[in-house]
Amino acid sequence: MNNYDEMSERAAAMIADQIKHVPHSTLGLATGSTPEGLYRSLIQKNRQDKVSFKDVTTFNLDEYIGLSETDTNSYHFFMHSHFFDYIDIQHHNIHIPNGLANDLEQECENYEAKIRNIDIQVLGLGLNGHIGFNEPGTSFLSRTHLVHLTESTRKANSRYFKTIEDVPERAITMGINTIMKSKKIILLVSGERKAEAVERLMNGEISEDFPASVLQRHPNVVLIGDKAALKKL
Ligand code: GLP
Repeated sequence: MNNYDEMSERAAAMIADQIKHVPHSTLGLATGSTPEGLYRSLIQKNRQDKVSFKDVTTFNLDEYIGLSETDTNSYHFFMHSHFFDYIDIQHHNIHIPNGLANDLEQECENYEAKIRNIDIQVLGLGLNGHIGFNEPGTSFLSRTHLVHLTESTRKANSRYFKTIEDVPERAITMGINTIMKSKKIILLVSGERKAEAVERLMNGEISEDFPASVLQRHPNVVLIGDKAALKKL
């Protein structure tokens, strides 16, 4: 794709197509700056093209531990303010891990048990190859679990916080195995800073040291990127 808008539009068209054919679809959703354009485009389609989310169920990939839903840095807040508040989705069909649960291990188990038959999973790519919050070294067999974020990830995400100390140290994330069970995966990559990770993802060895490399084993992955992110291919 030539640029960010084209990338976003392409991904939105694929998702809209899925929902038009199967209104009761299940979507796996991601946060981060990369999918913002995709959500904007889906909001537009919801308003203008009669693409309805009325019967759609969503599962988000991850959430920070310790941030409330009203904290502007929580992924709950992100999803509502960038997407859910503007479409006709039913609230009981939205699922995001609860990073404030008293028993976090139990929350992981409960979340994993709820996830079923994701038709399309949207993914972004961390600079160190993380998908969701599955950092390097995560087992490919992992289910929804608690993670300690690496310094590199906290640093990358600190752009949204006042200081790096404010970035939570832990998160809940779907596991690699959870993600791999999705029927189809759309991986979105944008900007030059992702170029090296994209190259490693496509041409590097499949290894738990670089979580996204597992996608080479998935039968139905679509990589959609802008020119800058794909320039090393
Ligand atoms: C975070 C999220 C990931 C996301 C990644 C990249 O760590 N947990 O799901 O893919 O950041 O974010 P961005 O799209 O802002 O580069």
